Amino acid sequence: MKLIFATNNQHKVDELRSLVTTEFDIITLKEAGIDIDIPEPYDTLEENATGKARTIFDMTSTNCFSEDTGLEVTALNGEPGVKSARYAGNNRSFDANIDKLLINLAGKPDRSARFRTVISLILDGHETQFEGECKGRIIETRRGDQGFGYDPVFVPEGSDKTFAEMTLTEKGEFSHRARATQKLVAFLNTYKLND
Ligand code: IMP
Repeated sequence: MKLIFATNNQHKVDELRSLVTTEFDIITLKEAGIDIDIPEPYDTLEENATGKARTIFDMTSTNCFSEDTGLEVTALNGEPGVKSARYAGNNRSFDANIDKLLINLAGKPDRSARFRTVISLILDGHETQFEGECKGRIIETRRGDQGFGYDPVFVPEGSDKTFAEMTLTEKGEFSHRARATQKLVAFLNTYKLND
């Protein structure tokens, strides 16, 4: 089954491909010949996920999905949340975002946080959403050089390593994206059986 993944983030594509079997042919925007930066103007992950998937479906009439992810930090009242990519400004710098996060958390005893992913799938024109979360904590200094975004400062519950110290497979045992993707794959498998 061919599906366009509506993202320009190669890290997300690599993670997705490591999680799904080859019977699902995940095509990137670039591979589909689409060169646009899809806007994320909304105040919720759900609305942004829908907006990105609809944009690509309307352009291509091809089955597709998108995902939107946010890091929600308890002591910061859920920030950066839906604004995670642009927390420190419009240039979306991973490093600047982490710096701002660590400064805002300095001196706060509660370092708990969670990642939340919403996947929006559009199959034959109909939309279905899937959610995955990963609880953990923000550590005080960066560790590891794998992954992307806030990975160097996020330690998931059940591990002592940051996501940036894990291989793709290890991250997939814990991650928000993996949990949402498992639901997506289960849905697609059922859909195929009923087809
Ligand atoms: P978006 O879903 O592309 O809007 O991603 C929002 C931002 O959240 C990204 O730019 C990253 O900074 C961060 N992010 C998303 N997923 C992850 C992850 O799996 N690990 C670390 N940071 C992430």
